Parts: sequence; C-alpha cells; structure tokens
Amino acid sequence: MSNVEVKAIPLAKMRTHRSTKWRDFPSDVLPLPVAEMDFEIAEPVRALLLEMVSNSDLGYLGSIPEIGTSFASFSKKRWNWTLDPEQVHIVTDVGVGVVEVLRVLTNPGDKILINSPVYHNFSTWIEETHLTKVDVPFGDALSGWAIDFDAIESAYRDGLKIHLLCHPHNPLGRVYSREELSKFVSLAKQYNVTIISDEIHAPLTFSESEFVPFLSLGADAQDVGVTVTAASKAWNLAGLKCAFIVTQSDVMRTKLNALPEATHYRASLLGAFATAAAFSDGVDWLDGALRTLDDNRHFLKKLLAEKLPTVGYEIPACSYLAWLDLTSLNLGENPAQTLLEKGRVAFNPGESFGSQSSQFVRLNFATGHDVIEEAVNRIIKSL
Ligand SMILES: Cc1ncc(COP(=O)(O)O)c(C=O)c1O
Repeated sequence: MSNVEVKAIPLAKMRTHRSTKWRDFPSDVLPLPVAEMDFEIAEPVRALLLEMVSNSDLGYLGSIPEIGTSFASFSKKRWNWTLDPEQVHIVTDVGVGVVEVLRVLTNPGDKILINSPVYHNFSTWIEETHLTKVDVPFGDALSGWAIDFDAIESAYRDGLKIHLLCHPHNPLGRVYSREELSKFVSLAKQYNVTIISDEIHAPLTFSESEFVPFLSLGADAQDVGVTVTAASKAWNLAGLKCAFIVTQSDVMRTKLNALPEATHYRASLLGAFATAAAFSDGVDWLDGALRTLDDNRHFLKKLLAEKLPTVGYEIPACSYLAWLDLTSLNLGENPAQTLLEKGRVAFNPGESFGSQSSQFVRLNFATGHDVIEEAVNRIIKSL
C-alpha cells in the first residue's frame, strides 16, 4: 500500500488560486461547485512540470506514445484491461473529444440519448453539434437510480444514433455494472447505435466497487463503443488541457479516421506530458487521494445525519461529488440560489443536470473537513 498522504490545501491559500472555482464568486462566498480538488497535485507530476517550465520547454506538442503506453499499463494493473495503445488519440479535453467524435459520426438533427440527471455539459455538447437530445432519466434514489432499460430500448429502436454514457456517473456517483453495460452493448449491436463512454471519473472509483471499462467488455463493445477520458479529473490537472479518445476495433478506428489530425496538436505540451506522468508515476498519489476522499464522503454523511438529517445523500461509489436532495428544507424553487444569497455558499444547481432535479444541489467534497463543515453550517444558516 502507498503511504502518500493527500491533504487539503488550507482555505486561505485556496482563495489565492486562479481557477474559476476561486475567481468567479465574491470573496465572502464559500465555493463548492466545479469538479476540481483542493489538494496538492502528485509530486512526480509537479516535478515534471517544474522541470519543463524552468527549462523553458513550452513548445508545441508532437508525438507522445507515452500517453497510450502509460494508460495501457495503468488500465492493465487497475482494471485488468489489455488495450492497444496505438488506438489512443489525443485531444484538448474530454469536451472537445466528445464533440469531435460527434462531428464525425453524426449529422445535424440525429438523435442522441442521455440519462439525466447527468453532467450538465452533455447538453451543451449536444447543442453545439446540433443533435436532437433524447432523455431517458434514471429512477429516483429509492429505486437505487434505476436504469429504465425498456425506455432505453424503445429510444434505440426509434432511430437513435448515439448513446452518451457517463461512466462512472456524475452526479450520481454510480458505477455501471458489467451486466448493465453488457445490456447496452447488445442493444447497441441490435439497433446500430454507437456508445460514447465518458470515463473521466473512472480512476476515482472507490475500492468497494468494480469499475469495468466499456471497451474491456469484448469484441461487440469494441465495435459499438468509443471511450473518451483523461487524467485531468483524477489527478486534478484540468487547466493543463489534455484528454484522449480510445477505440479498440478496426471498425471504430476506421470510422474515426475522419477526425481532424489537428486535434492532437490542440492539446497542450504540459498537459500531455503531465498525463503520461500521472498514469505511470502518480498511482501512489491517486491511492492517497482516494483515502482522503473516502474519509470525506463518510464525514459528510455523519455531519448530515447529525445536523441536517432530512437531507438525502447516498454515499457515492466514485469521485468527490455529493448529490444532495434538499426537498425537505423548503428552500424555494432554486435552492442553490437561496443558499448562495442567504448562506454565502455555492453549489452546482441540480436543475442544470436535469429538470427533475431542481431540489438537488451538487457539493464538491474534495476539500478539508473544515470547509465541508462550514458548508453544512451555511446551509443551516440559510433555513
Ligand atoms: C463526466 C464529465 N465529463 C467531462 C468533464 C470535463 O472534462 P474536460 O474538462 O476534459 O472537458 C467533467 C468535468 O467535471 C465530467 O464530470
């Protein structure tokens, strides 16, 4: 077991950070939206970045087979997935990756399925590519966020082109099981649907759950599926701009041959080399971060049980996003807005993940216990 301890950066220091989470709210607001962590980055990644900057090594990105090979070796050890590193295609970020894949595989107006509540930018990517959004929402918390396979099959049958999966799931913290993914594969095969699996949160799956990479499910999954992922979420490197598209079959590789060659060069040099370093040398740090997040997800549960017992919160199986049902608090039509105005605490509004979630907010617990506790106190202050 690794002994890297990953601690939160003190709030006063975080307030000097330049990212959107720290710039885009007044200074008296405690910000807990945006999926980035208040943690020091992994030492091997920091060392590499410092070395590149101090050597003025900041030119254009060229060939970097290290991303494919380091991701393949990480995937083998972590998930027992053997993948062909030659079929790893670098892009600027996951958003750009999904949009570029959609541009190649669809025509304006084609139907694309999502399952709400889901990461809000799925909708902006769909708008950007002029596709027609079809939504088959998950069941509620009581159903265990059940998947409505009958409605999904009916959407597939109705001329669907793409199913965009969030695997593991933001904001539900749900990891699709092997059986659930296999059902998607057989439906996709039957109805000629392509599945794009956004796996950016995958390395942050907690040890009690099994993360199954979509493309590890065999030949049929590889024929119908494309994965888009990055090291940026798990290693906290979003500002460095690098992600990648993975295919694992000749059929899908050929379809994606039409991707513009320039997508590779639109990633950043720092981001690309930091990505390779994260997958190859950042695993002890990742395990340390997961221990801290594991502690935080339970700390939040305990706090809510003590101070706000009617708030709904299922401990997530991955990542650092808590999906809080605030219905019982009667905070009006837009709880996130009320909390911002009255409690000076910022969360992502549930509505942006799906219209049925207007009474939810998403809280980012990749921070210190003091910040989590203060966030809960500020919710109480808003009542
Ligand atoms: C599911 C999911 N996909 C993609 C992203 C954004 O990735 P990128 O910044 O690489 O576009 C996020 C960010 O939170 C996310 O949760």
